[in-house]
Parts: sequence; structure tokens; C-alpha cells
Amino acid sequence: MEKPDYGNWMQLKYLYITGVLTIFSLLLSFLYAPIIVLTVLFLGVCIFLSYTRNKLSPSGGDLQSKIQELVLEHLNWDGKGNIIDIGCGNGPLTLKAANKYPDACLTGIDYWGVMWEYSHEICKRNAKIEGVDDRLTFQKASASILPFKDEYFDAAISNLVFHEVKDTMDKRDVIQEALRIVKKGGAFSFQDLFLDKKIYGDIGELLDTIRSWGIENVEFTSTKNSEFIPTALKLPFVIGNIGIIYGTK
Ligand SMILES: C[S@@+](CC[C@H](N)C(=O)[O-])C[C@H]1O[C@@H](n2cnc3c(N)ncnc32)[C@H](O)[C@@H]1O
Repeated sequence: MEKPDYGNWMQLKYLYITGVLTIFSLLLSFLYAPIIVLTVLFLGVCIFLSYTRNKLSPSGGDLQSKIQELVLEHLNWDGKGNIIDIGCGNGPLTLKAANKYPDACLTGIDYWGVMWEYSHEICKRNAKIEGVDDRLTFQKASASILPFKDEYFDAAISNLVFHEVKDTMDKRDVIQEALRIVKKGGAFSFQDLFLDKKIYGDIGELLDTIRSWGIENVEFTSTKNSEFIPTALKLPFVIGNIGIIYGTK
């Protein structure tokens, strides 16, 4: 039976690059011995990336799927109406939502840029395999300017996308754009690097800013508090800065 392809956030190309750098620096170290320090460094990074990739995959810890689940766990929605997944990748979160909310209509949007191994075609194939393609639409669009009128959706979700939006300097604007298309009283749950102060500033101030947009109920939870995440992955540059902003508009 055909299986859906949801990809892995730790792309193979990064393992190949560090693997090649390890071999290349090892060869150079025969000409100039101190370069062996670099070889050890590259090898360490390559091993850590391989470990992370394995933990994210279904055959390892299935962390990617569990982290996506957290977004839906924090969405306070009855599943009646329409929902958007912003930056859907290959559609894993969109399809989880489709299974959780059998009466909902779903839209997944993504830029599907060359940086990622995701595509519109794979999304459609995954939806067919999961048997939910009749309630789902996938569409190419940027999270910076969503092609929907104000308050169009009953609910909105997103996972690890907002910090990636290159055409918006201030990533708080991406959050505001996502909330623009949610109905008054609608639900939202967005997971991203919200604890990275270089991107979003202080989390308390970020929540205050969101409240100042007229959002009635907004809360935050840190993803690294989840027991299923191994300590090695709780470093700030892996999963340590991730959290979920959720609430109702
Ligand atoms: C880490 S992946 C997450 C994908 C998916 N949400 C998941 O949980 O697997 C980041 C995604 O953001 C998308 N992305 C980056 N910039 C975007 C933009 N401006 N608009 C929409 N999607 C964007 C990428 O194409 C990629 O699919």
C-alpha cells in the first residue's frame, strides 16, 4: 500500500554537505595535520544531524508528527466550518486536521519554494492516500499576503512557518496577517520559534502586541516542556525555542 510522504524537517542535503566536508577536511589533514580539528567538528555535526533526522522520522521517535499534533491539541475548535493550514509543506498537519475534524473543509497554502522538498503535487497525492481529498484544497500562496478576505476562516493553524517568510521583515506582521483571515470568535494555534528573541522579541511583549490587535484570548506554551522531546534536541537551535501561540479571536 502506498504511504504518504510528509518529508523530514532535517533535509538529507544538510547531512550530505557535512559528510562531504568531513571527508574533504580529512583528506586535507594529511597535508596539514591541524585541520583534523575541523574534521572532528564536521563529523560531530553530521552525527548530530543524522540523530535529529532519525528522531523526527516515523521509524525513529516520530517527533515531527508528535510536534504537529501539539498544534491541534491547542486548537479550541468544534470542527464546524473551514480551517486553513498556513505553510502546509507536504500537508501533514492539514491531513491530521482533516482526520480530526470530519465535518470541516480544509485549505492548505504554501509557497513551495526551492529550499524545501515539498510540493503541491505531493500534497494532493497524500490527501488521496489518506482518503480526504474531497474536503481539501491546496493552493500556492505566501503567508505574507494571504489571498483571502478578512475573517474568511473559522480556524487557522500553522507549524514552523512564520520565521521562514522571507518577504516580511518583521515576523509579527506574519502573525497579524494570519489572524486577519480568522473570524471573530474563531480559533487559532500557531507553532513557531516564538522564544527566539532575535525574531520575535520578548514573548510577554509579543502576547501584549497580539492583544493590542483586539485578540480576546491568547496564550503561549513552550514546546520543549513536552516529555517526548529528548534532552539533546531541547537546545535553542533545534527545538528549544519553539512554542505555540493559541487562543480565540
Ligand atoms: C519547516 S517547514 C514546515 C512545513 C509544515 N508546516 C510541516 O509541519 O511539516 C516550513 C514551510 O514553510 C513554507 N514557507 C516558507 N516561506 C513561506 C511563505 N512565504 N509562505 C508560505 N509558506 C512558506 C515552506 O515552503 C515549508 O513548507
